[in-house]
Amino acid sequence: MRDFFGGLLRPRIEALGLEIGSANIKMVELSGTPPSLKNLSIRPTPPGVIQEGSIIEPGALTDVIKEMLAEMRTRKRYVVTAASNLAVITRTLQVPKMPIKQMEEAVRWEAERYIPFPIDEVVLDYAPLDAYESIPDGEQMDVVVGAARQETVASLVEALKAAGLEPLVIDVKPFAGLRTLGARLAATDREPITLFLEIGAESSALVLTRGERLLLNRVINLSGKDFTAAISKAFNLDVVAAEDAKKNYGLATIPTEDEDLLLDFDAERERFNPARMYDAIRPVLVELTTELRRSLEFFRVQVGDLGVDQGFVAGGGSKLRSLVPLLSDTLGIPLETADPWQGLQIDKSRFDLEYLRGLAPEFTVPVGLALRGVNPLD
Ligand SMILES: Nc1ncnc2c1ncn2[C@@H]1O[C@H](COP(=O)(O)OP(=O)(O)OP(=O)(O)O)[C@@H](O)[C@H]1O
Ligand SMILES: [Mg+2]
Repeated sequence: MRDFFGGLLRPRIEALGLEIGSANIKMVELSGTPPSLKNLSIRPTPPGVIQEGSIIEPGALTDVIKEMLAEMRTRKRYVVTAASNLAVITRTLQVPKMPIKQMEEAVRWEAERYIPFPIDEVVLDYAPLDAYESIPDGEQMDVVVGAARQETVASLVEALKAAGLEPLVIDVKPFAGLRTLGARLAATDREPITLFLEIGAESSALVLTRGERLLLNRVINLSGKDFTAAISKAFNLDVVAAEDAKKNYGLATIPTEDEDLLLDFDAERERFNPARMYDAIRPVLVELTTELRRSLEFFRVQVGDLGVDQGFVAGGGSKLRSLVPLLSDTLGIPLETADPWQGLQIDKSRFDLEYLRGLAPEFTVPVGLALRGVNPLD
């Protein structure tokens, strides 16, 4: 009874989480506090729909989203979604604290210097890094600004509306991923420095935080598709066959002799034997680790010599065999695969936990989006 009237007094809009990835579209429905998992769906993105972070064929996208809504049997129509990393620029900048109404204009003014396209062609949003109330009037405050081209956002909104959905929030993917880490970002005895790395199909993102405060957000232009391209080239395969070979035989560490011996002599396995596979993939691995090292170095110079205490990896691209331990070794940071299901109530009679575990990397961002959907004020 109390809940019922409470609900009337504080009507709650709950939104779905939806990530339109370049490889997979993922949708998640959560409900209540603490949030429980109601439903989820993942479908391959039809080829050619997304390119370089922009929607090229909104019609095909709309069809898939409609199918997913039907499959999930949800009545929710509000969504929290995200723009591609390739379409968003984030920067941390400083503005003097002022009444909230004037903040937006001040941020826009300041952002103009940092955003490489005309400011009147971008959609811009910002969030203070520290609680607004905690900053004395007139002092400088750090804000993180996210900007995307108006046309990119407009085509996303259009495709969603055509599927009958109403976008509430367009988020930044790695920030959504961070949300799934919840309490693990927070202080125990001191604020830990946390690394979050999301390796998607089309791009990756590297984030560092101290406690819950953002320190660094970088787009890394190496991702799943680069591994696929390397395999496609080395073995002379089309993209679909190279994807398959990567998932079945890809590996990120120098194969041991044992591994070679374990192979039975079927022709597929012989063709994609670990040594050849490793040779094909190695240049991309080197580029990726170099890029990550460089970003961490940049951060050290900026912030002072600080160790990273813990790291979480997500995104389907991180499922390449042995990649997480390899990165952990080369960066010297303990890394684990993020578990977005951790903070959710999950009915074991409805969901196969093994299946969910296998899709944890792909669903980290979508679950983070859905978490915002049940806490729209966060
Ligand atoms: N077992 C595996 N080994 C290697 N790569 C894998 C494996 N499973 C999935 N991937 C890769 O993960 C990527 C898809 O993951 P994900 O769904 O997170 O991407 P996305 O969200 O569509 O991409 P983006 O956000 O960059 O647009 C693809 O590049 C795919 O090849
Ligand atoms: Mg993604």
